[in-house]
Amino acid sequence: MNHDLIVIGGGPGGYVAAIRAAQLGLNVGCVEKEAALGGTCLRIGCIPSKALLESSHLYHMAQHEMAAHGVKIVNASLDLPTMLKRKDGIVDGLTKGIDFLFKKNKVTRYRGTGRLAGPGKVVVDGDQPQELTAKNIIIATGSKPMMIPGIEFDGKHVGTSTEALNYDKVPEHLVVIGGGVIGLELGSVWKRLGAKVTVLEFLDRIMAGMDTELARDSQKVFEKQGIEFRLKTKVTSAKFDGSKCIVTVEGGEPIHCDKVLVSVGRVPVTDGLGLETVGLQLDAKKRIPTDSHLRTPIAGIFAIGDCINGPMLAHKAEEEGVAAAEFIATGYGHVNYDAIPSVVYTEPEVASVGKTEDELKAAGVEYRKGTFQFAFHGRAKALGQTDGYVKVLADKKTDRVLGVHILGPRAGDLIAECAAAIEFGASSEDIARTCHAHPTLAEVVKEAALGVDGRSIHK
Ligand code: NAI
Repeated sequence: MNHDLIVIGGGPGGYVAAIRAAQLGLNVGCVEKEAALGGTCLRIGCIPSKALLESSHLYHMAQHEMAAHGVKIVNASLDLPTMLKRKDGIVDGLTKGIDFLFKKNKVTRYRGTGRLAGPGKVVVDGDQPQELTAKNIIIATGSKPMMIPGIEFDGKHVGTSTEALNYDKVPEHLVVIGGGVIGLELGSVWKRLGAKVTVLEFLDRIMAGMDTELARDSQKVFEKQGIEFRLKTKVTSAKFDGSKCIVTVEGGEPIHCDKVLVSVGRVPVTDGLGLETVGLQLDAKKRIPTDSHLRTPIAGIFAIGDCINGPMLAHKAEEEGVAAAEFIATGYGHVNYDAIPSVVYTEPEVASVGKTEDELKAAGVEYRKGTFQFAFHGRAKALGQTDGYVKVLADKKTDRVLGVHILGPRAGDLIAECAAAIEFGASSEDIARTCHAHPTLAEVVKEAALGVDGRSIHK
């Protein structure tokens, strides 16, 4: 089969690239080894974890928060099989949705593992091996959990996020290795469902990369919820000994528990791709090198998403997929990496876009800062969700918004306005002078923007 474009990988980067290229009139094939399209994000990542986050939040509310609203629920109980089934149903519906979108856009789907076999050639290994040719190829093979020495994965007791989305009963004690995004999101799910949760983090802080002040304040909120943190703790081994899990840490007593979630980062999937057949070399972190148009050094081969440089985020992969497809079809295609938000879906959520205070200080950029607490806001009080604040950072001379960092209810939705502000090169004055509907949580963003100039009204 001959195509204008073959995309290897059907995750959020790959399937979006395939659809966008087809919209632009290209004849597109997409190779995916799993039965379901959607990649890690849709099948075993963002979507199933969000289903569990919402469900576990409702359970927690029923048990601990609704009485304060005057709603008494007697004997709220957990039906874990139904919760897991609901999650699986959401995933199933969405992955089938991508099959439908492929048909609608006339993208040909190949089932099997794709690899390069020379310039313009892709071999699909699987039940029905095939050889495909194309003028252009986009590699979108994603990432997989990082393994560290000493951890004996058995898939049942010591496992990754994939297993933690499917525990068939609530662990009594869950030990999470790594205080990053996955550990915090899934740790908080099982905490809300009743587990004791201990997070072991190598660094002296959680959420590395997020604004330090925000990360520190987030940790306090999570501790208030009962999650236990041990920072500056390096895990050296973890295994199941037949009756319990034993986790050893450098310079401390071993910890006994019944489940271990290993979430110490992810690594690009770039092995076995036949890159040598076209002379494409990986960088030191086993990522595929690309330029600002997502081109690899080899003509006609592009790469996007987790298998290249940059944050491993589904929406970053999607933007790159669109940019690569548009570049192939039109000669133009661009991603603004300064305006990529990042969200940690805990309760409350943590969201960020642009530069952190640490980055601005390190770069010697002079800035002004406005903050506003959710506790001062009527809607947050009505929701009963008053933890956290919005912090707006703007250039001292030009007032251009450089970064916004939010800890608080629906922070992940509120950050969209801030990403748009950065994309349009807005000033904090622009946000402050934009009318925000009352009473909405978005007013907290406006008040923080007013705060850059010391003009918050309700503080
Ligand atoms: P992460 O990179 O966010 O955090 C891993 C943490 O593990 C780091 O803080 C690191 O210091 C710690 N660590 C490493 N080795 C350790 C050891 N031996 N003992 C103790 N701690 C150790 O990685 P995570 O949470 O696994 O997420 C992987 C990727 O998936 C990230 O790039 C993230 O952006 C992405 N992701 C994004 C989500 C979102 O945007 N909401 C959700 C889930 C994943």
